[in-house]
Amino acid sequence: MKQKDKYEIVSELARRRGFFWPSYEIYGGVSGFITFGPLGVLLKRRIEEKFRDFFIRRLGIYEVENSVIVPAKVFEASGHVEHFKEPMVECKNCKRKFRADHLLQEFAGMSDTETEKLTLDELDKQLRINKVKCPECGGAFDKPQYFMTMFKTTIGPYAEAVGYGRPEAAQGIFVEFKRLYDFAREKLPFGVAQIGRALRNEISPRQGPIRLREFTIIDIEFFFDPEEPNCYLLDEVENETLRLIPAELKLKGEAKPVEVTVKEALEKGYIKTEWQAFFMAWAKRFLLSIGVPSEKQRFIEKLEWERAHYSVQGYDQEVFLERWGWVEVSGHNYRTDYDLKRHIEFSREDMRAFKELKKPIEKEKVILKPIMEKIGPIFQKDIGEVLKLLEQTNPEEIEEAFNKQGFYMLGKYKILPEHVQILRTKVEEKGRRFIPHVVEPSFGLDRLVYVALEYAYRIKDNRALLSLPRDIAPIQVGVYPLVSKDGLPEKAREVYKMLLEEGFTVEYDESGSIGRRYARADEIGTPLGITIDYQTLKDDTVTIRDRDSWKQVRTKITDLPHLLREYFRNKIEFEELGVAFKE
Ligand code: GLY
Repeated sequence: MKQKDKYEIVSELARRRGFFWPSYEIYGGVSGFITFGPLGVLLKRRIEEKFRDFFIRRLGIYEVENSVIVPAKVFEASGHVEHFKEPMVECKNCKRKFRADHLLQEFAGMSDTETEKLTLDELDKQLRINKVKCPECGGAFDKPQYFMTMFKTTIGPYAEAVGYGRPEAAQGIFVEFKRLYDFAREKLPFGVAQIGRALRNEISPRQGPIRLREFTIIDIEFFFDPEEPNCYLLDEVENETLRLIPAELKLKGEAKPVEVTVKEALEKGYIKTEWQAFFMAWAKRFLLSIGVPSEKQRFIEKLEWERAHYSVQGYDQEVFLERWGWVEVSGHNYRTDYDLKRHIEFSREDMRAFKELKKPIEKEKVILKPIMEKIGPIFQKDIGEVLKLLEQTNPEEIEEAFNKQGFYMLGKYKILPEHVQILRTKVEEKGRRFIPHVVEPSFGLDRLVYVALEYAYRIKDNRALLSLPRDIAPIQVGVYPLVSKDGLPEKAREVYKMLLEEGFTVEYDESGSIGRRYARADEIGTPLGITIDYQTLKDDTVTIRDRDSWKQVRTKITDLPHLLREYFRNKIEFEELGVAFKE
């Protein structure tokens, strides 16, 4: 019999114990959607809360929440309507559709770096050369074509009011920049996060929680002045080591990461901006804190043709998973001023930041004055629009175009030198207007849940247990009467109620032998078990059992709240919860 791999084992446990399973199973299931069960919801929330604490509360980042359905204009401006597409092939025989690049990776041993580069014709050629056939029926494929992976809809009953399901939460931050900058009292740098559902209409997702059509994304957009790019938090991480595969190594076909400190990575130019380096180190620490050791993490740089359209440098943070190898858990992109610039262009709202100069400087200013008697009759009813656009355009840019080509294209309007007057004057400049730059760390929360489960899974004495870090375990404490008689259940319920009142997530269980109850709790990752025994009735003490070592300590019921609070905040270790106990 084929041995089950870790993914099958963990997924099977996840289904059986209520972490997650494929959605809509009674109707045959639809790939790319999963349902988090009661324990999965708790685990996901805890990871999300831990993330909030790590990245949002501690770093003073703001959080916003806006809509999943977004008017088309936003994604036209952001470039997603043009770029958010994947190559797809259809089987001529069974009509099933697949990602052409994924087929080449799976059946022709090509890397994503290789397939990412290929045009539709080249993908077609490679599928033929490598004799890749339909994995379902062995049929031949039609020519590849692009498929836009945003879900399209209409907003309200108007066919022309097109909207898309957001494929990233980032745009909901960029479009609100004016208000957020105002909220930040017009000071840079500052960061804004959004945690929410995102939708991607994946062509043929077959990797459970790793590739979903609807998932929870965490996007942080960190805005800074490109002329003041230094990260004031760098001290905190500069000696942190990162396992990096920078582009230059990747191009040489080197798969082994270099181990460098954050400081070295910046000095060697592997990472271009300090803020990005900071967030990468922070992300490494976060993954460590949910159970992934350093040697199972790495950052791999995206080559030019692999990067998203908005990125000038991108690293994927990857974690090693037994079935799939290195899998992306977060992306770190230097988005520059790309998004704000595009939204300024499309919305015509001025979203530039302003920085007051220490001392005003005298500068020559180029001013553009439209000559109304010339342009009025030419542009007629569009004149209002033309004047507005002229006002928003840098006159130097127009002057440069006149010198180069004799005209300037103002959107669809052709402006000639005789339409405007270009003057020079001296002005006192009090400040500088500019478009902030952005680095973006972005995480897939559902993947983090799976990663935490795979890394927590272990076997001890032929039993499965989930060694989840204590602060993300879904249930914190199990409360058990040793036997269900002689007043022990009543006493145990008192302890259970008291811990609930104190705010802990507690489970009460009196069914089956105590050994079986411990085993059940170990399998869902409950870090502590409190047992009420005959001694409890005499002196109000209980035993506390550790999930991982199975050691026990004895402590007073009245001490439980403060001890447990300290324990779950990682302030004390198990041994400090009481006096070592032996039966
Ligand atoms: N905003 C990150 C992404 O689209 O992947």
